[in-house]
Amino acid sequence: MRLHDCHNFHDFRRLAKRRLPGPIFNYIDGAADDEVTYRRNTAAFETCDLLPSVLRGVQTVDLSVSVMGQRLALPFYCSPTALQRLFHHDGERAVAAAAGKFGTMFGVSSLGTVSLEEARAISSGPQVYQFYFHRDRGLNREMMARAKEAGVEVMMLTVDSITGGNRERDKRTGFAIPFRLNAAGIAQFAVKPGWAINHFRHEKFKLPQLDSHVDMGSGTVSISRYFTEMLDPSMNWDDVAEMVAHWNGRFCLKGVMTVEDAKRAVDIGCTGIVLSNHGGRQLDGSRSAFDQLAEIVDAVGDRIDVMMDGGVQRGTHVLKALSLGAKAVGLGRYYLFALAAAGQPGVERALELMRSEIERSMRLMGCAEIGDLSRSNLRFR
Ligand code: LAC
Repeated sequence: MRLHDCHNFHDFRRLAKRRLPGPIFNYIDGAADDEVTYRRNTAAFETCDLLPSVLRGVQTVDLSVSVMGQRLALPFYCSPTALQRLFHHDGERAVAAAAGKFGTMFGVSSLGTVSLEEARAISSGPQVYQFYFHRDRGLNREMMARAKEAGVEVMMLTVDSITGGNRERDKRTGFAIPFRLNAAGIAQFAVKPGWAINHFRHEKFKLPQLDSHVDMGSGTVSISRYFTEMLDPSMNWDDVAEMVAHWNGRFCLKGVMTVEDAKRAVDIGCTGIVLSNHGGRQLDGSRSAFDQLAEIVDAVGDRIDVMMDGGVQRGTHVLKALSLGAKAVGLGRYYLFALAAAGQPGVERALELMRSEIERSMRLMGCAEIGDLSRSNLRFR
């Protein structure tokens, strides 16, 4: 199986599974507890159906949107995700370059493996900086100053991760960074020597957003330990209001799931919110973002840009979210599996497939621009 055999999410996932050592594949693919929320995220899109309008004379289709003051050529973006150089040696470089080519936004994570400055220089697309609120306030201030200096367009604070989700697949393999694997995990690396040779031939694994404060050389950190030991569980609305004022620019909260919290985000001056359950990786049993979308758009959609992510695998999933009033939709595993499968060409192919699925579906729906989509295009079962 090769890149040109990949026609959708499932194909990229299958190819990624072949290339990656089991513990790394399972880190991407896995979620919390019984992974109920992970499955629900995609299933939620099937609770409604599209209603096409015919004979509208759709000659050209314009997929561009404006979100958080940024003009995007496409109504979807690459959400910030951690540790990308573990999945492919180009990691964030490949994703930033691909997003730039497609004129869309991408995120660099606090747990990114390429510096936010380097990513900023690679891509012509708007950059989001995903921020975790650390116990170490000096680190928080330094990270914000660095992002400002680098010209990051949007600060995106993740609010659903004050402690680590229960990732049982990672517990089984002992997945940690850089590497601390149990015997079963090591055996899984041994059967993918191609990945190992490639990985170790390239520059050493680093976390450049955190390197002045976290010593990765002397030990290993599991994702769960990072969340639990380094992030500040006392983070509250006052802390975030202070951060919004300090940043003094476009600010977005990722992980808001209720109307009440969405209203608070408006009150403290946020520009955007991303409805998200972190790909089902944190609180299992949490509702899907798609299921919460209409209610939150109705409550705050005229005062703040509402986005969503989770479970998006198809162009029609994006269309359904936009029809309910999302301003743009975030992709995570969708482009990560493509990255793992084939690096930058893989991400570009994934973005192109998503773009063409949306364009084709827009024509079939009788819509020439994103603004033509509305709730009259949807019926819930
Ligand atoms: C995760 C974090 C790091 O879900 O975003 O693994």
